[in-house]
Amino acid sequence: MNKTCNCGILGLGSCFPKKVLTNHDLEKMVDTSNEWITKRTGISERRILDEDVPAHKLGVEAAKKALADAKVEPEEVDLIIVTTETPDYLTPSMSCLIQSEIGATKAAAFDLNAACSGFIYGMSVANQFIRSGFYKYVLIVGCEGLSKVVDWKDRNTCVLFGDGAGAVLFGPVEEGCGIITTYTGAAGELGKNITIPCCYISPEDIEARGGENKRTLWMDGSEVFKFAVKIMEHASTKVLDDAGLTMDDIKLIVPHQANIRILEGAAKRLNIPNDKVFSNLHRYGNISSASIPVGLTDAYSQKIISKGDNLILVGFGGGLTWGAAIIRWNK
Ligand code: ACO
Repeated sequence: MNKTCNCGILGLGSCFPKKVLTNHDLEKMVDTSNEWITKRTGISERRILDEDVPAHKLGVEAAKKALADAKVEPEEVDLIIVTTETPDYLTPSMSCLIQSEIGATKAAAFDLNAACSGFIYGMSVANQFIRSGFYKYVLIVGCEGLSKVVDWKDRNTCVLFGDGAGAVLFGPVEEGCGIITTYTGAAGELGKNITIPCCYISPEDIEARGGENKRTLWMDGSEVFKFAVKIMEHASTKVLDDAGLTMDDIKLIVPHQANIRILEGAAKRLNIPNDKVFSNLHRYGNISSASIPVGLTDAYSQKIISKGDNLILVGFGGGLTWGAAIIRWNK
């Protein structure tokens, strides 16, 4: 057992499929318009995997980039957590597939499913292992292939989602930096509002789907919308209180990217300008648990954040689940 230390970000990376699906492409597939999608969601395009390519390939590339950024070898990684709600296989897990392909021979590996909140849940696990000194390097890969579970005939959902992966290597950092606090929560009784059936589908779910026994993603968009705006405010306020900070101490919020109107609604409730809330939604759509690590990678590479900045990370989604964290940037 090593001595206790702060846990922070050592390296970041992301990866997307090459294929771009624009709103104009979707106009040819379902009864929708570029204008409706842009106005109601803020999304312009999303990246889509070819049918014969598994989603974990994106995670492999993102993971390699994060390790290279941190200058840490794959054999040094102690634990790989892949956050996903779209695993290629239930077993072997996405994390084992990635472990094998990157050559992280000494790492333990498991998948964590908290839908779009997965990355924050993963961070809270990494924080415990690193703070206690039990592990030195924990790699979290948010890796999603939502195109594989979307019903491409359903305009209510197919315009919203995309594929992508973001990876972050966590490890020991200097005193005063890194993860300051994390907060996670769940409301299972609201889970019926977003479903992706796997080995079973309930009669209630079939009824909600208009009698259809399909294994695709189904969502009551307006219920999730109302929940998302409220929970973003609640979770952000909670971590600020826990950390003894105010919104004035925060440089940027990096939230889960689901809908620009959710981000603007939350900014209004939090009484902050929209530009304090990072968004890259127009390029990728909703990529579930990959959106926060991808957002961090983009914000860092765009030099929007620098050493010493306090960030709020906040996510919400299927389960229903939510999570938030405050991190003091150490890179
Ligand atoms: N193109 C054109 N019209 C559409 C489309 C479309 N793609 N989709 C829906 N419409 C229509 C509807 O049929 C409806 O028509 P009607 O009035 O004739 O019935 C009208 O537009 C309005 O529909 P609403 O559902 O009220 O539209 P809303 O403004 O609520 O936007 C949306 C829908 C974008 C889904 C929104 O509710 C939303 O973003 N919800 C949150 C989603 C989310 O955050 N998910 C996160 C978790 S996802 C996860 O964990 C996998």
